[in-house]
Amino acid sequence: MEYPRQVRIYEVGPRDGLQNEAEPIPSEAKLRYIELLRAAGLREIEATSFVSPRAIPQLADADELMATLASEARDWGVRYPVLIPNMRGMERAEAAGADALAVFTAASDEFTRRNIGMTIDESLAAFAPVLQRASDLGWWKRAYVSTAFGCPFTGHVEVGAVVDVSLRLVELGADEICLGDTIGVGVPNQVHELTSTVTAAGLPLDQLAYHFHDTRGTALANVVAGLEGGVTCFDSSTGGTGGCPYAPGAAGNLATEDLVYLLDGLGIEHGVRLGGVLEAARFIAGALRKPLSSKVGQAGGWDPATGARVT
Ligand code: COA
Ligand code: ZN
Repeated sequence: MEYPRQVRIYEVGPRDGLQNEAEPIPSEAKLRYIELLRAAGLREIEATSFVSPRAIPQLADADELMATLASEARDWGVRYPVLIPNMRGMERAEAAGADALAVFTAASDEFTRRNIGMTIDESLAAFAPVLQRASDLGWWKRAYVSTAFGCPFTGHVEVGAVVDVSLRLVELGADEICLGDTIGVGVPNQVHELTSTVTAAGLPLDQLAYHFHDTRGTALANVVAGLEGGVTCFDSSTGGTGGCPYAPGAAGNLATEDLVYLLDGLGIEHGVRLGGVLEAARFIAGALRKPLSSKVGQAGGWDPATGARVT
């Protein structure tokens, strides 16, 4: 099987992970988590959200957190995208010194309505000026399409709906489209179908990323299906932070340590050190006062040269 020689690991722990954790943690702990992620070699770290602090109180410290990161970012060569829902969020992000963003909609109207109180069309209208402003400023721009593999409210999602919203986001200026399995229901044949349909419709492979949740244990199988289709960017969360709001108690984001272990074994380059990721994973699990849920977090890695456990 031919896999890409090199991929990007896009870390979502500080944003997607922490927004779903019940335990609020202080900004200093978030900054330390991000510092450890950087030390592990991660170069794209979604840092926080400029959404309503009433909707996501866990990330209410976005303004100060981003300002601190922005003051260091240029030195580190790290991209810190921030999630932005509207112009109000864009103004806050600009003031804090951000230079990369992610906007978010879904392939299911009902999900979009419940998440951000808009239809898909309304969300695209809200993002248009945000993406325009970001383009004027020369920012890097990602767009999430949630529920690309299924919706918790309406079930099956048509591939055509995913493709349609993806292409509209590219038209609005998105540099990268990230298709999300928000509730972790996807399986590899869906990944193959989505990859081939969306690329046949005109989205270049290097503008496509996947965001898998491991809710039902299929995330790594889906990553392999993505690799088989030539996809070169995958999201993950160090420590497997982030539960699933639609499946209480269940695992959420694919853990970065599990993804790194797989990619190392496949001989695919990514620039991230497993030992460093495990250190960050232990740190954030401690800050959240919960045990590590990831497989590799529990078992450790494995060094084929010596047989030793990597921790
Ligand atoms: N930053 C800070 N506050 C914001 C804001 C922003 N970007 N956008 C809106 N608000 C505030 C408004 O000032 C208003 O505050 P008030 O009630 O104190 O007056 C309140 O939020 C509601 O504003 P409104 O314009 O009516 O928006 P809404 O209620 O329709 O909410 C969103 C829309 C998108 C802003 C809100 O649903 C949200 O932030 N959701 C977060 C969704 C999310 O992050 N989901 C997880 C990621 S997938
Ligand atoms: Zn997620």
